[in-house]
Amino acid sequence: MSALPPELVHSVDSSAIVEQLERLGKLPADTDPAPLMQLAQHPNPKVRAAAAKNLAKLENPALLAFLVECAGKEPNTMARREFVSAVGRLRHPSAIPHLLHFLQDVDPKVVLQAIRGLLCFRQDADVLTRLQELRHHPNELIRKAIGSELDRSPASRQVSREHRYSPAWLHNVLVNADVLDVLRHVPDESIHLTFTSPPYYNARDYTIYRSYDEYLQFLVRVFTEVHRITKEGRFFVLNTSPVLVPRMSRQHSSTRYLIPFDIHPLITRVGFDFIDDIIWVKPEPSAKNRNGGFYQHRKPLGYKANSVVEYVIVYRKHTDKLIDWNMRQYDPETVEASKVLGDYEKTNVWRIAPSADPVHPAVFPVELATRIIELYSYRGDLVFDPFAGRGTVGIAALQTGRFYFLVEKDPQYAAYARQLLSEGNLFGGDSIRMLTLEEFASMRTESTGDKK
Ligand SMILES: C[S@@+](CC[C@H](N)C(=O)[O-])C[C@H]1O[C@@H](n2cnc3c(N)ncnc32)[C@H](O)[C@@H]1O
Repeated sequence: MSALPPELVHSVDSSAIVEQLERLGKLPADTDPAPLMQLAQHPNPKVRAAAAKNLAKLENPALLAFLVECAGKEPNTMARREFVSAVGRLRHPSAIPHLLHFLQDVDPKVVLQAIRGLLCFRQDADVLTRLQELRHHPNELIRKAIGSELDRSPASRQVSREHRYSPAWLHNVLVNADVLDVLRHVPDESIHLTFTSPPYYNARDYTIYRSYDEYLQFLVRVFTEVHRITKEGRFFVLNTSPVLVPRMSRQHSSTRYLIPFDIHPLITRVGFDFIDDIIWVKPEPSAKNRNGGFYQHRKPLGYKANSVVEYVIVYRKHTDKLIDWNMRQYDPETVEASKVLGDYEKTNVWRIAPSADPVHPAVFPVELATRIIELYSYRGDLVFDPFAGRGTVGIAALQTGRFYFLVEKDPQYAAYARQLLSEGNLFGGDSIRMLTLEEFASMRTESTGDKK
């Protein structure tokens, strides 16, 4: 049986051939492979790739030699990937030596297809050894795929109640102390989400660092702890923006620091995977005017853009488990109650008005925190902010049915956060716990029996 109109094989219109090949769907086992084999040698690589995809559907071991030959001489990586995938899909032991050979390919996508084909033969000791060797492959995606496939135990597929629970003694707690001192007392894997906006280097005077490097190293120490206390596969969302440290005098230039870009590689080294870059856009009038001079003189080189954006970078604690595993840890009622209903922002550009506060000079709006919490946690989860300021994350957590855990070093801001949280807490101010470091440390000791 032929799957293709005979004239198509001789058509000069490559796009039409590809279109037809992509529409073929499932192919019966008795399909005549000859026209597809002819198209697998077409001058256009897109046609060759589409033909290879259809030959793969036949899962016919008699095609092995042909597919291996095509893969071997194929210069186009997209088409080569499809030929190697087709070899793998034969699931025939005679394909093993060829798939092992394709592990040497320079293109990681081709290697990944060879791995995929070999995984069903992992009981074969030689195959397993060769797959194990790829743990040291220079390509990160190959190492990741090997890690997740070879280390996936049946236990890792099970639902763990532990994942949903957080230590009750951390629920709705605000600690007025240095975050690094506080985090020493927090057990591993205690929290579900961190959303924070760290100090802006030396742009505001609430914290002063001797150098930019010292500042970045401080953040790395905090984020290493955040990583430790975050549950497997959960999110860490960081709001930062470039900052300007004012010039010494009119004879000097000021210095801008691109904090989100400088901190990013350090965060991934800590063990967080990059997930998304969200741009928070504020209305133009809210931006500081930086181009007054240029507006007057209009001379090239003197232009400075008014900054209306901040970065909200989303990270996930590295795990080999897919996000579905995290979702599966919740009971149907919690999933239903946590659903993000109605309209939502589908792009990574979020237009939200900034928030001005009479007490704290650099707060983010409750709307931003609410959005992050609703999108990256479930009801009943514990949400953490190591640099809490006026406690915006806590207010948003209360409004969305999550618990908060906040740390703020400055006594004035901490007291203010306590006041705002009391006002926002339907259960009254008494249930807001603001603790000193000593009180917090003793709570940990008292609750050693408190299993997550
Ligand atoms: C950018 S503000 C965060 C504001 C917060 N997002 C809000 O909406 O109110 C950073 C906060 O980190 C606090 N901070 C700085 N260093 C700290 C440290 N070592 N430990 C705890 N808090 C610290 C500052 O006092 C400041 O309130």
